[in-house]
Amino acid sequence: MSSKLIYVTRKIPESGLNLLREKKYELDISEKDGVLTKDELIRDLKRKPYDGVLCLLTDNITSEIYDAVGTAKIFANYAVGFNNIDVTEAKKRGIVITNTPGVLTDTVAEHTFALIIAIATRLAEADRFVREGKYDGWAPELLLGNDLKGKVLGILGAGRIGSRVAYHAKRGFDMSIAYYDIAPNAEFEKECGAKYYSSPDELLAVSDFVSVHVPLLDSTKHLINKERLSQMKRTAYLVNTSRGPVIDEKALFEALRDGVIRGAALDVFENEPKVYPGLEKLDNVILTPHIASATIETRSKMSEIAALNLIAYFDGKTPPNQV
Ligand code: DGY
Repeated sequence: MSSKLIYVTRKIPESGLNLLREKKYELDISEKDGVLTKDELIRDLKRKPYDGVLCLLTDNITSEIYDAVGTAKIFANYAVGFNNIDVTEAKKRGIVITNTPGVLTDTVAEHTFALIIAIATRLAEADRFVREGKYDGWAPELLLGNDLKGKVLGILGAGRIGSRVAYHAKRGFDMSIAYYDIAPNAEFEKECGAKYYSSPDELLAVSDFVSVHVPLLDSTKHLINKERLSQMKRTAYLVNTSRGPVIDEKALFEALRDGVIRGAALDVFENEPKVYPGLEKLDNVILTPHIASATIETRSKMSEIAALNLIAYFDGKTPPNQV
């Protein structure tokens, strides 16, 4: 079989790239240390007759991109989420799309849990307090937070990551688990003692913490809006490590500012990398820059999975993670 020519839209951990090199594929890796604009991506893709593209969640893969690189019949996304890719159009054109599920479940669940603990214990705020020289001695009511034990954790979307977060909450912190998903999951209920709610509204009303784990679809855009925020307990916290547009960020900013809910922790934003103006000034929100899967181990595994999908395709097999 002839050597394959792959375009990689940004440098990723070497482990996967090495798998491709071992197959003697030729790799062109974007030299820009940043996200390529649409025009830059089109310019690069037009340079050579690429057989495949390894792309990132920050690349918008649309008809224009498919047109630019008519020869590439596979786009391997370096992410589990693939809302950045027009999959319907790809299918029409016989283009294969793959993602990297599974390998980042534990890592994202751990980061989610770090956010839950951090917002409940006011960790980032307390850190700022000390650094700013405000600490002048122990005080009985200084920076009071909330316990997790006995509280209700509402899981919005009990897929791989959501159910892993619930597992930690139940086993590690003795929290009660409530969940909403399109259908009940008996196994999950058994494993975590989880209680099913058939609508997000009911889930929001009973939860002390709400953790969002739904994919971004037309039906989940602004799933958490002004009305739904007002259905939450005033003492509740909202955590999002899924996709930013699932939450109406302006409505969330107003809810946090006005005390409609107590706090939030966000790893993802509606218009990344922008953050809704004013959020950064609020003490009752923790903001991390889309790093929930960012461990050395996991980002390397994601690189390998993306590569293995390409290799399987070029070996004439169905890629393991075709979407
Ligand atoms: C994913 O893989 O979809 C994550 O958001 C990347 O961190």
